[in-house]
Amino acid sequence: MADQILENIQWQEGEISRADRERLIQQKGTTIWFTGLSGSGKSTIAIALEKALYQRNTLSYRLDGDNIRLGINKNLGFSAVDRAENIRRIGEISKLFSDCGAIALSSFISPYRQDRENVRTLHEESGIKFIEVFVDCSLEVAETRDPKGLYKKARDGKIKNFTGIDDPYETPKNPEIHLRTDQLTLEQEIKTIILYLEQQGIIN
Ligand code: ADX
Repeated sequence: MADQILENIQWQEGEISRADRERLIQQKGTTIWFTGLSGSGKSTIAIALEKALYQRNTLSYRLDGDNIRLGINKNLGFSAVDRAENIRRIGEISKLFSDCGAIALSSFISPYRQDRENVRTLHEESGIKFIEVFVDCSLEVAETRDPKGLYKKARDGKIKNFTGIDDPYETPKNPEIHLRTDQLTLEQEIKTIILYLEQQGIIN
C-alpha cells in the first residue's frame, strides 16, 4: 500500500451540516459496532436489528465482514496489519454513513482492542455516537455452531490465523452493550439494543 501523503490536502467544508441532514431525515447519525468471534452472532443480530429499525421507519445500513471483504477490502487478508487496515477502512465508511444521518450497523470480528479504539476515537472526535456491542459467546459454542464450516477447517490446519484458534481475540473492556448470545434469544438481544437506543435518545 502506498504511504499516506497528506501534503497539499485540505478538508473541504460544505454548506450543509450533519445537523441539517439529521433534521431532514429526523434521525441521529450513529455507528453501532458489533465485535466478537466468528459464529458469535454479529451478522444475525445486525440483520434482525436492521429489520426492527426499518419497521420503526429508521434508516440503517449494514456493513458486514464477508461482504466488505468481497468488495472494497478484497485486497486484504488476515494478518494483524491487514486486519488493522480492514477495520480502519470500515471505520471510515461507518463514519460516512453515520455522518449522513443513518445508523451504521458494522459487524466485524475486529479482534484487536486498539483497532476498535481507533474507530471509536474517529467517531467521537467528530461528535458522532459510537456504540460498541460485544457479541459474546464461548469459543466452544461458536465452534459448535460453525455456520460456515471454518472452525473445522482451522482445526484441520486448512486455514491459518483463524480468530480463536491460532489468532487472538481481545475482549472489549467497556462495551456499551454486552450480549451473551449463548444465554439470550435473538429477540431479547434486539430488545436490549432497542431499549439502549431509546434511552440514549437515538430513536423514539
Ligand atoms: S476482521 O478480523 O478483519 O475483523 P472480518 O470480520 O472482516 O475479520 O472477516 C471475518 C470473516 O472472514 C469471518 O466471518 C470468516 O467468514 C472469514 N475468515 C476467513 N479467514 C479468516 C480468519 N483467518 N480469521 C477470521 N475470519 C476469517
